[in-house]
Amino acid sequence: MAVLKVELYGSPVLREKARPVDAITPDIQTLLDDMVDTMRHAQGAGLAANQVGVPLRVIIVDVGAHVGREDLAFLINPEWVYQEGSALMEEGCLSIPQIFEKVPRPSKVKVRALDRQGKPFELEGEEFLCKALCHEMDHLDGVLFIDRLTPLKRDLVKRKIKKLIREGEWDDPYPLSKAAG
Ligand code: NI
Repeated sequence: MAVLKVELYGSPVLREKARPVDAITPDIQTLLDDMVDTMRHAQGAGLAANQVGVPLRVIIVDVGAHVGREDLAFLINPEWVYQEGSALMEEGCLSIPQIFEKVPRPSKVKVRALDRQGKPFELEGEEFLCKALCHEMDHLDGVLFIDRLTPLKRDLVKRKIKKLIREGEWDDPYPLSKAAG
């Protein structure tokens, strides 16, 4: 298991449309384990494989993060079953450090995916889980949460990002030296 480098906004792999996984191999299971380590190290609540430089349709979501318990979902080749309603919820992204904005999303969704053993399952989410699933599913299509803001808001955010980069705030957002233990 290993903590991987998190790709930051501006990295081309974040804009790639991720490819489906052909088979659940040991390599894929290692990728999942490494993604968990990486997400926890960076204190995130979800992660898509392209955020660690692997353009495959693999996401993990810590569905218990918002209530302070650990409850991981591994989703391989996830697809929408449905999306309904609308909600405005604040989001952040490990690939866009220190930026948090309210993003319009559905209020209830359901996805179908393969778990880490390759078994199909469905996951329905509202509130936090709905937001997390929408956010991570977007990553697989090369879409970032700031793309869903109004053009005005997006411009403001882009300026804020430039400033953070200029000030060195993005140089090493998840330093290994800060790893617990
Ligand atoms: Ni993200």
